[in-house]
Amino acid sequence: MGYVKGLKCRECARPYPAKPLHVCEFCFGPLEVDYDYAAIGRVVHHRSIEAGPPNIWRYRALLPVDGEPTVGRHCGFTPLVRARNLGKALGLSQLYVKNDTVNHPTLSFKDRVVAVAVIKAQEFGFSVVACASTGNLANSVAAHAAEGGLTSFVFIPADLEQGKVLGTSVYGANVVAVDGTYDEVNRLCSEVADKYGWAFVNINLRPYYAEGSKTFGYEIAEQLGWRAPDHIVVPAAGGSLITKVWKGLKEFYNLGLLPAVPTRMHVAQAAGCGPIVNSVKAGSEIIRPVKQPRTIAKSLAVGNPADGYYAFKVVKDSGGSGEHATDEEIVEAMKLLAATEGIFAETAGGVTVAATKKLVEQGAIGRDEVTVISVTGNGLKTQEAVAGALRVPAHIKPTLASFDAVLAQYPPSGAGSGPMAERCSPEMLQSQGGM
Ligand SMILES: Cc1ncc(COP(=O)(O)O)c(C=O)c1O
Ligand SMILES: [Zn+2]
Repeated sequence: MGYVKGLKCRECARPYPAKPLHVCEFCFGPLEVDYDYAAIGRVVHHRSIEAGPPNIWRYRALLPVDGEPTVGRHCGFTPLVRARNLGKALGLSQLYVKNDTVNHPTLSFKDRVVAVAVIKAQEFGFSVVACASTGNLANSVAAHAAEGGLTSFVFIPADLEQGKVLGTSVYGANVVAVDGTYDEVNRLCSEVADKYGWAFVNINLRPYYAEGSKTFGYEIAEQLGWRAPDHIVVPAAGGSLITKVWKGLKEFYNLGLLPAVPTRMHVAQAAGCGPIVNSVKAGSEIIRPVKQPRTIAKSLAVGNPADGYYAFKVVKDSGGSGEHATDEEIVEAMKLLAATEGIFAETAGGVTVAATKKLVEQGAIGRDEVTVISVTGNGLKTQEAVAGALRVPAHIKPTLASFDAVLAQYPPSGAGSGPMAERCSPEMLQSQGGM
């Protein structure tokens, strides 16, 4: 059995039973999981965690599941990469990349939240799991539902990237593409959840689902040798990840697993959809929704973030800040991360690297401070974003003479360079068998 006491309203602290509930019926505040920390403190130590499996279940006492994990058993414990090359490019001497591009099974941090949510759905006896998604959640819900033998319904904006759609359908999910923004999809899903009584991982199971994101913060602290960094830069859509990374660090501190949490939490969003960053820059806790998001970072295109206010508060309370990235900056940053560290991140990763660059230039991040960039999704799913900005391969005959003729056009060294000025178009990519 786990250590969950029940749910609790984040605003008025009213207690609720551990059921599929998410809103306080008195003040409409969001509910969150409440743990028996005294009991957890008696069993959780550095050694007990280190003796656990190399995945998120090493932190199981701090996750809201009752029994053994039934799905997502290999999720998490992704690399914390010492990013010396990118650090040099950004002017940071102690830079790390938390690399969830290789998370299991669907290559984004969303596997952390979905593993918890789908196990919870099974524990509550649901047979259908569903979600409103900007793409990565769609992939992950579909995969975990397949693994758990559940039916899945996945609702997405109709204009998502091919890789995100294909990477959902392949698992046998019922995919519903909605003509509208993510916020419209989400509103529809609230009605569907009411009418059909399904387990919507990010609606009626949201309190449980969100807890999975704490593991991103736990891992950073453990992988740094039980130390919290000076800075973490986190991309935000609904604002849940940044809120829960902070909660995870605080929990570790309160349990005596960290000596201090000096961490400043910085939020990164796209310029074309940055409601949380807008609030941080304006110093106002009021989150003004963005009606029509316009950005290539579709995974972050949430105009009305459910946890926007809490994300804002985390940034303020921790002394952090926020930055935007334009589409051009996103593409440049994706290429920079790939060329310096060999990590192909999706657009959200480009947003985070680009925002970090600005935060360093502004002095919000000191050049010798320990900094972690959160890279939360894989670039193979958003190939359209960089397709037009890359050189195409040299195309030669199968002869040495043909190769010799093009070799001179390559620079002697240089990451990512190719012989031709010509650019890949999305159509070419498709004809080459990509997405
Ligand atoms: C790759 C990626 N990074 C970050 C986020 C932000 O997550 P949150 O909604 O918890 O702020 C998302 C959300 O979809 C995402 O897909
Ligand atoms: Zn309440």
